[in-house]
Amino acid sequence: MNRQVLFICLHVLHSVVGQISYTIPEEMTKGSLVGNIAQDLGLEIKRLISGKAKIYTRKTDEYIELNRERGVLLVKERIDREALCTETTLCALHFQILLENPMEFYRVTVQITDVNDNAPTFEQREMQFKISEAAITGAKFELERAVDLDVGINGVHKYELKPTDNFALKVHNNPDGNKNVEMVLQKPLDREKQEQIYLVLTAVDGGEPQMSGTMLIVITVLDANDNAPVFTQSTYKATVTENSPKGTVVATVTATDADQGSNGKITYSIINTLENIRKMFEVNQEKGEIILMTNIDFEKSRNFQINLRATDDGGFTDSCKLIVDVQDVNDNNPEINIMSKSNVISEDAKVNTVVTMINIEDRDSGENGKVQCFINENVPFVLQTSTNNFYSLVTDSELDRERASEYNITVTCSDEGVPSLSSSVTLTLQISDVNDNAPVFERSSYEAYIVENNTPGLSVFTVKARDADWNQNARVSYILEDSSVNGVPVSSYVSVSADSGVIHAVRSFDYEQIKDFHFCVKAQDGGSPPLSSNVTVKILIQDQNDNPPQVLYPVQTGGSVVGEMVPRSADVGYLVSKVVAVDVDSGQNAWLSYKLQKATDRALFEVGLQNGEIRTIRQVTDKDAVNQKLTVIVEDNGQPSRSATVIVNVAVADSFSEVMSEFTDFKQDKEYNDNLTFYLVLALAVVSFLFITCLVVIISVKIYRWRQSRVLYHSNLPVIPYYPPRYSDTLGGTGTLQHVYNYEVCRTTDSRKSDCKFGRAGSQNVLIMDPSSTGTMQRIQSEKNILDEPDSPLEVGRTVLFTT
Ligand SMILES: *[C@@H]1O[C@H](CO)[C@@H](O)[C@H](O)[C@H]1NC(C)=O
Ligand SMILES: *[C@@H]1O[C@H](CO)[C@@H](O)[C@H](O)[C@H]1NC(C)=O
Repeated sequence: MNRQVLFICLHVLHSVVGQISYTIPEEMTKGSLVGNIAQDLGLEIKRLISGKAKIYTRKTDEYIELNRERGVLLVKERIDREALCTETTLCALHFQILLENPMEFYRVTVQITDVNDNAPTFEQREMQFKISEAAITGAKFELERAVDLDVGINGVHKYELKPTDNFALKVHNNPDGNKNVEMVLQKPLDREKQEQIYLVLTAVDGGEPQMSGTMLIVITVLDANDNAPVFTQSTYKATVTENSPKGTVVATVTATDADQGSNGKITYSIINTLENIRKMFEVNQEKGEIILMTNIDFEKSRNFQINLRATDDGGFTDSCKLIVDVQDVNDNNPEINIMSKSNVISEDAKVNTVVTMINIEDRDSGENGKVQCFINENVPFVLQTSTNNFYSLVTDSELDRERASEYNITVTCSDEGVPSLSSSVTLTLQISDVNDNAPVFERSSYEAYIVENNTPGLSVFTVKARDADWNQNARVSYILEDSSVNGVPVSSYVSVSADSGVIHAVRSFDYEQIKDFHFCVKAQDGGSPPLSSNVTVKILIQDQNDNPPQVLYPVQTGGSVVGEMVPRSADVGYLVSKVVAVDVDSGQNAWLSYKLQKATDRALFEVGLQNGEIRTIRQVTDKDAVNQKLTVIVEDNGQPSRSATVIVNVAVADSFSEVMSEFTDFKQDKEYNDNLTFYLVLALAVVSFLFITCLVVIISVKIYRWRQSRVLYHSNLPVIPYYPPRYSDTLGGTGTLQHVYNYEVCRTTDSRKSDCKFGRAGSQNVLIMDPSSTGTMQRIQSEKNILDEPDSPLEVGRTVLFTT
């Protein structure tokens, strides 16, 4: 304790006036010694006691007391300088010490010195600031001052601010002695790093010991758009399967922005991307989802690159890249391309002939694009694969157009995707014809009937051959094979129409001349070389009732008269004669019946209907005329029937002389007969003339035909019908046999039997006579038949064949 004792002796009054000063620090404890007043004033203790020394002060508060016994001043009460003097720098207590006997007083000043007993303090414990992070360095923020009740050196001495990262403290000494405390931004703030900053401002006084006060400064950093958005990746990858539906989210990109609020609000967009891709994808502005907008086709593009931008409200951006890989889906059928094909293949094509070349393409990839092809079964083709995706369709076995003229080959190709897709194509292949089939006649042989006396050129019937080949190879021509019938070329009998196979009769046939014949017809196709086959055609000629019966007996001649004699004694049933007739026709046409047409006496004779026997039917009487003339009609059974009449002269007499007496009757007839003879001779002359004329014509024609025959044969022209010279019966007389062609002479006793005989095949009783040589007589075998008959009832007259 620094105690300063100041002696100032002032003797202004008669009393001793002394002045004494002490200096004590404040806050001394009660009873502390302020000063030894007795000593300092030079007074004795006794005097103090006797003088009843006391302190006189006008103030009520008594801080100091006087101890008379000890002669010292003591601290009576704690002295607080700040309370006593506030800010006054010099703080002192003034009082007097009064003495009595003699009265004396002394002035005493006790100076109170400051003790550092107050810390600097701030009015508020905390100060709040809101500062934008965008605040520039150098920005100033005024702070509160600290207050220290102490004075002088014990007052606020300095300030400190901690930490000093962003702010520095600046203290201005104002002229009034006050200090302005500011903090200055030294380093920019970053809300994103530190949103709130806590600083402590400390005020320190200069006392000993030093005392301090603090204040908390809370700085809230306000956001500024100082951060750009940032994508989480610079490149994103995504896959999308093709044909994904619209609206599929392909990928999501994310960008972050460190800023707050609208400064950190990010909007996504597509930028710098090809127009076509831009149409395919859309980005959700807020969520960053990339959404598929159209159908996506792996076969068109396998990946896409989309550039994306993120923008915050402040306009800061970042960009990234999204690579979308498209995944293949088996959505393409294999394509079958026919590179080359033949629509037609010859049926004689060799095995392994290539018919079609096919190329396969599947636009899918991987397994989805692997293709296998096959063809339908049951076709003689096989699919061969040469190199990748190239197939050739080749023949597998021999072809036969006649079995199958067309094939539908279905080529089916499937890929190996799951599920597998396939496509198919049908090739129609025609098999072209090769002439490998000969024409085949419908029957192995033909038989046809033709009624005699046909008109030349009549179509008899048709042969038909079929050829399994096609078109020209199946165009059948019919050719009459050269042969001869009875020494005459068959072409003079029939002709065959080359196109239609119709067989025409070239001439009129006569059953009595020829009953049947056969020939060969060749069917030949139009192939090259042509193929052919033969058939035998047999023509049977049918009879017509074209010949009247021929009476063989009795012989009717112009000159001679044959007569039969009936004795007058003849009984009933006496066989007078027998009319013998033949008919060169056959069958019913040759079935003869006999009737009595006219008779001198109808009651005397009858004619056997079937056998032509003339018998008496009553006893002959003398009254009966000698000359009986019977007219017998012979009819055949044809339709219409033909007939011949014969006159039988019967003499009813017992002797020839009796007959002669009646000759005169014959004379009348003779005149008639002479006339007849004349006409016959005239007719003969005409016939002979005609015959010679015909002979000349025939020879001319023969020569002409001989010259033309080869030409005619090789040309396919229809055969010119050949009409031989007239060979029919020109004389036409009954009872004659000028034209006998082919017949059988039967027993007249039963003409029905002749039918049976006729039925026998290969009859020997055939007379063949050249129609052109009617004058020549041939031997008749049939004569023998009649004569050899042992039981023949015919005993009258012999059968004689006459000819002119
Ligand atoms: C082939 O197909 C065509 C058309 O579908 C059809 O007319 C024809 O009959 C078929 N041919 C065969 C041999 O199946
Ligand atoms: C046809 O017949 C003739 C003889 O008439 C014969 O030489 C020829 O070989 C036959 N042709 C056929 C294809 O049968």
